Amino acid sequence: MAKITASVFTSHVPAIGAAMDLGKTQEDYWKPVFAGYDFSKQWMKDNKPDVIFLVFNDHATAFSLEMIPTFAIGTAAEFQPADEGWGPRPVPKVIGHPDLASHIAQSVIQQDFDLTIVNKMDVDHGLTVPLSLMCGELDPKTDAWPCPVIPFAVNVVQYPVPSGKRCFMLGQAIRKAVDSYDEDLNVHIWGTGGMSHQLQGARAGLINREWDNAWLDQMIADPVGCANTPHIDYVREAGSEGIELVMWLIARGAMSDIVDGKVQGPAPTVKHRFYHVPASNTAVGHLILENN
Ligand code: DHB
Ligand code: FE
Repeated sequence: MAKITASVFTSHVPAIGAAMDLGKTQEDYWKPVFAGYDFSKQWMKDNKPDVIFLVFNDHATAFSLEMIPTFAIGTAAEFQPADEGWGPRPVPKVIGHPDLASHIAQSVIQQDFDLTIVNKMDVDHGLTVPLSLMCGELDPKTDAWPCPVIPFAVNVVQYPVPSGKRCFMLGQAIRKAVDSYDEDLNVHIWGTGGMSHQLQGARAGLINREWDNAWLDQMIADPVGCANTPHIDYVREAGSEGIELVMWLIARGAMSDIVDGKVQGPAPTVKHRFYHVPASNTAVGHLILENN
């Protein structure tokens, strides 16, 4: 049977991708950001998944005001890096897993979560920057990402956006779906975006180190309480783009200590935790949790 063995959480700032693509990772500004992922790149090699289920948000790249799916699962065989204005990032194309993705769509929709099925989608920095951070620099001509990736897009850009509680419940449904897939596959689930940042308006540049770290503590140790954080708290404390953090609750809800909506199993092991301020306008947070 397929199994979710670990979850990865990371911010997704586009300037991080540009720093990698333009050879700036060893500059004073960027060095401490990338140092926080040295452990993670080795961990990815030592714990190579068969499939990554990657929860991310599209930033009006594949979707727009013309079409706004709340939850969208990528079922295609491959996904191209998107052109966000400076040409597509020079990274490998993303190979999907249509069979597992369509199984998850079937199972999760039957568990009463309405997903949009996406058979064609270019993936923006929300997906490629987390992959780059975890896998390092790859040459699109000669290299590939380490495994297939199922992109799972969440609307956190255009209101109304889903609550943390609903994301947490969805994570539990995704784990049930993965558990019921016949092939033996080691699956990792990633929650991406966040942490505190606001890119527009009077509070542009907002970062809240204390709130972010308290939220991380609670997300790890009291995920049910964390999932009940009201939407307005994210916006007030973590800025308008801090709402991206609800995506982390999908990955947290998929971990094996959550049974019937409560913490009932052995807690996951925190393999790595990192926090750095700032990268561009964003507080970078990163966690690796392993199931026990
Ligand atoms: C930045 C952060 C984001 O999450 C994003 O989607 C775009 C830009 C930033 O800090 O520059
Ligand atoms: Fe973003």
